[in-house]
Amino acid sequence: MQNLLSINNLRVGFSLGGKSIEAVKGVNLKIGHNEAMVLAGESGSGKSITSFAITKILPANARIIAGEVYFGGEDLLKLDEKALADVRGSSIAYIFQEPSSFLNPVYTIGSQISEVIMLHQRKSREEAGLAALELLQQVKINDTQRVSESYPHQLSGGMNQRAFIAMSLACKPKLLIADEPTTSLDVTIEAEILQLLMQLKRQLGFSLLFITHNLSIAKRIADRVSIMYQGKIVEEGSCAEIFSSPKHFHTRELIQAYEKIGKL
Ligand SMILES: Nc1ncnc2c1ncn2[C@@H]1O[C@H](COP(=O)(O)OP(=O)(O)OP(=O)(O)O)[C@@H](O)[C@H]1O
Ligand SMILES: [Mg+2]
Repeated sequence: MQNLLSINNLRVGFSLGGKSIEAVKGVNLKIGHNEAMVLAGESGSGKSITSFAITKILPANARIIAGEVYFGGEDLLKLDEKALADVRGSSIAYIFQEPSSFLNPVYTIGSQISEVIMLHQRKSREEAGLAALELLQQVKINDTQRVSESYPHQLSGGMNQRAFIAMSLACKPKLLIADEPTTSLDVTIEAEILQLLMQLKRQLGFSLLFITHNLSIAKRIADRVSIMYQGKIVEEGSCAEIFSSPKHFHTRELIQAYEKIGKL
């Protein structure tokens, strides 16, 4: 079967103080329909930049040097900004480490989710408000009315992440890109959010690109794992393959580090 997403030879560079540096050096990454792909690797290896390049949400000093990102039969890197904005709102959604930095502090959770719904679906404000409550229910929030009427600062980190996930589901994504979405949460809340994401994935049938440096999370949720090191993917395989017979020294290093602290 054809892949949902196919990144071919992606290269991304930065201009920094008059110099040009390459941060992503020819990445190939394929994600199947309904698949959970975990992109793991050390800090600074290029995981986030690779994921930002998919819909071109890159920092201002970044430049895509080469590559293709096939999604639904077209190369996203060839689309103009308007078409890319449509893709971001309708089929590829992102969630991040600090949801509160992406939620607007001066609007309630409910009005922010409603806004996204109205932007992408023909719904009145009232209908969008009801749909927002349904989405909050879908992310297993019990007191949806209270959360909907709350401002981000009135909620815990875990609750804000649930609300942000609800907002990302408003566009019914085919691909959800989650960049370290649980790193700032404590371990019990982290486990709950991971469980929620996997449940939503099964229920709604999206594919997941999950970025983490945490191999214990990778082992728990991945169908396939790609290991990134210094701007390249150095190893890719099924979760079982990667953990039972790692080939690249960096993969072995990462696994050993987690085994040493009893986290694998
Ligand atoms: N705006 C920028 N200007 C210059 N270089 C940058 C910029 N953003 C990122 N980089 C560099 O690009 C490389 C890849 O960064 P990236 O954020 O993708 O790493 P990462 O694998 O996501 O790391 P982490 O696990 O810490 O989030 C790093 O060396 C980083 O310093
Ligand atoms: Mg990152």
